[in-house]
Amino acid sequence: MTTSDGDILLQADGIDIGYGRVTVIHGASLSVKRGQIIAIIGPNGAGKTTLLSGLMGLLPVKGRLSYFGETMSEQPSVEQLVGRGVTLIPETRELFGPMSVEDNLRLGGFSRYQQGHRDLQAGLEEVYTLMPRLRERKTQAAKTLSGGERQMLAMGRALMSKPKLLLLDEPSLGLAPLITRDILRTVARLRDLGMSCLLVEQNAKAALRIADYAYVMESGAFVLQGPAAEVAANPDIIASYLGVRSAAAAEHHA
Ligand SMILES: Nc1ncnc2c1ncn2[C@@H]1O[C@H](COP(=O)(O)OP(=O)(O)OP(=O)(O)O)[C@@H](O)[C@H]1O
Ligand SMILES: [Mg+2]
Repeated sequence: MTTSDGDILLQADGIDIGYGRVTVIHGASLSVKRGQIIAIIGPNGAGKTTLLSGLMGLLPVKGRLSYFGETMSEQPSVEQLVGRGVTLIPETRELFGPMSVEDNLRLGGFSRYQQGHRDLQAGLEEVYTLMPRLRERKTQAAKTLSGGERQMLAMGRALMSKPKLLLLDEPSLGLAPLITRDILRTVARLRDLGMSCLLVEQNAKAALRIADYAYVMESGAFVLQGPAAEVAANPDIIASYLGVRSAAAAEHHA
């Protein structure tokens, strides 16, 4: 295709998402293109998880949505989205605790197996190459992993379904800075492998470092957007999210 449409994996125009009669997301518009990492940053309660839940078909969305260049007349279900290559890794990193690392990964590849693909072993190899720590621990029960290892396993399990678009909710939650760096580096490598990622992060600094483009969400609406480097250089963002006040701003507030 010569138009750029084929390169837009996800496009939302003026969408509302809420819980029953309570609307949390108001008129949000965003797009994710092939091979991009899009960061969404914003404070607790801004609506980041709500947005991802709507985009994954877990909550009803009002407004215009298109996936892989196709405008949806009806919101697709979770199953339909998974079938088309969209995967969500939730904040909670749900794993099968008593099962081994490798069995968790195998389960991640189950839907592909059902579709007739017989590339489970190759998938495991890819995941182990990307995250060698998982290979070292492949026989260990998931529930005994450290926080960082659990996040890697959650990512590895999602990768076993070979998604085109990964929705990632706060992969650094509760993790030390070094592990956060590792995890986000892995996300950046996924882009190199051709995957796109919608990355929700409270760790704005780390997210903006790897993202191509970023949206800032406050109280259910995007208040700022732009190329990640520009957002990272914006004085308001520096003051509110990056934790470093410039001397001038500090003086101004004194
Ligand atoms: N199941 C629910 N029913 C009603 N309101 C909800 C529900 N889940 C979340 N909310 C509300 O929606 C708003 C946005 O919550 P959300 O979890 O999307 O924020 P968030 O940006 O992901 O925050 P955090 O950074 O803490 O994860 C909050 O006011 C929250 O109380
Ligand atoms: Mg959240």
